[in-house]
Amino acid sequence: MKMRKKIIMDVDTGSDDAIALALAMSDPQIDLLGICTVNGNLEVALTTDNTLRVVECCQAQERVKVYRGCEYPLVCTLQKGTGQYGIIPRRESEVTERGVHRKNLPLPAPVAKPQEESAVCWMIRTLLESEGDITVVAVGPLTNLAAAMRADGRILAKIREIIVMGGGHERSGLCSAAAEFNVWCDPEAMEIVLQSGCPLTMVPLDATYHAKMGQAEAKTIAAIGTPQAKLVSDLIGQRIEGYKNGYGADSATEGVPVHDALAVCAVLYPQVLQNVKRCNMHVDLGKGYAYGRTVIDTRDCEHSEAANVSFAMGADRELFVNWVMDTLGRKA
Ligand code: BDR
Ligand code: CA
Repeated sequence: MKMRKKIIMDVDTGSDDAIALALAMSDPQIDLLGICTVNGNLEVALTTDNTLRVVECCQAQERVKVYRGCEYPLVCTLQKGTGQYGIIPRRESEVTERGVHRKNLPLPAPVAKPQEESAVCWMIRTLLESEGDITVVAVGPLTNLAAAMRADGRILAKIREIIVMGGGHERSGLCSAAAEFNVWCDPEAMEIVLQSGCPLTMVPLDATYHAKMGQAEAKTIAAIGTPQAKLVSDLIGQRIEGYKNGYGADSATEGVPVHDALAVCAVLYPQVLQNVKRCNMHVDLGKGYAYGRTVIDTRDCEHSEAANVSFAMGADRELFVNWVMDTLGRKA
């Protein structure tokens, strides 16, 4: 077998984060060094609890540890009227049982606790001790990674690649007219990561909406019969229901995106990302209507700033779905 890909996952689990984690723990080509949690889809206590549930569902608690991360975005909660522009942690009381993400994943409460060391400290230590061969897969707000970069700049030279599920160009966000959720939650953190100089691949909404999964896939996955497969199948079902409840009965006819899982697939199969543009990207930090919008420079001319991202505008759905099925269907 080829060398396994070493990754750190940074998550705000969340239904699609859970699917991404289950796949990362099931694919033997991936060496998952640890999982950092962050405020995002839910407050960090819940994203941590949910992450532990997934690890135990995959029976990976001995090898994969969970590190609790930042409770608040870096900057945007400091401004007046939080919630209007930036996000405040989504408290337990605000989570409905009809949405795409729910308070608890449909799994037993975890036995294990998160590690004592914080996610930011662990990430710094792990990267510094590495041989520069770790990919960071960030599928939640970028708070932990940006905080780690600010706390110890030596990690920048140690990161092999960063793959971020976030942003959007032709496809705007669901939570504001302009911004995708992960970037909207902590726009300043995304901008810090953009300016880090680290190799950076963006898996934005433009790509994830090309890799939807629907009832048919959920049914096939359920038939695999393992706890992980059942979880993934149930969560695709939950996401379909959540889309219908939130965006109308027709919104899930062609299936729904499982955003974060596509970022994990891209670690192993970069070709799953299509129509990838090398370009410059910034985040709008202007605190107006476009706060948190990712702005990519598609001009490719003398006025353009140097490229800092590979930004995927499409995805190979067939490759993605086959990988999901193969990975979950593998004998442990
Ligand atoms: C992103 O936002 C979150 O709700 C999902 O988990 C995903 O990471 C998609 O915009
Ligand atoms: Ca997420």
